[in-house]
Amino acid sequence: MSEGEMDGLAVVACERCPDLVECRNRIVNGVGPADADLLFVGEAPGQHEDEGGEPFVGRSGDVLDDGLRDAGLDRGDVRITNCVRCRPPDNRDPTGSELANCREYLETEIDRVDPEVVVTLGKVPAEHLLERDVAVTGEAGDVVEAAIGGERRRVLVCVHPAATLYDPSQRDTFSSTLERAAEFTDESSGQSRIGDF
Ligand code: URA
Repeated sequence: MSEGEMDGLAVVACERCPDLVECRNRIVNGVGPADADLLFVGEAPGQHEDEGGEPFVGRSGDVLDDGLRDAGLDRGDVRITNCVRCRPPDNRDPTGSELANCREYLETEIDRVDPEVVVTLGKVPAEHLLERDVAVTGEAGDVVEAAIGGERRRVLVCVHPAATLYDPSQRDTFSSTLERAAEFTDESSGQSRIGDF
């Protein structure tokens, strides 16, 4: 592996993207159980994630945590990661080459976690993993198959949590997609979910 080093699921050293190396405080790896049923994939860390060292801990993270709770899920039971592990300058979208540079790490994480479903949060991860244009609002809630790292995977398209802040009409779409995600967990097949208590 050139210029990058993983320890299990964590990238511990990487200098592949000069702009990101300059901007980041740290590499933000995925969090959550290594055998989670649900793997959520966002775009890239923002300022809060870069400071805190964990994906989705800013405002979008609050929306995600609330949405998970409403769907009977707990943040601690799902795995959350990003397409790109370093914060892009000015929170711009990651470039094609940055996405490509980080792809190996994402594929390794998906392969090792082997989730029941990969949930894409927003347009960038949906298009990155499905390798086509995605109209996220129209496709949100759809489960589609995709070849990721040579394996057939289920991908559930979801709007980005921040979309619900800019456009309240996205809230129902976001909630119903998380309810769909919950159907893929062990807990949904018989055992109680936290919402039952
Ligand atoms: N938005 C993302 O796509 N990822 C994060 O980690 C935080 C916000």
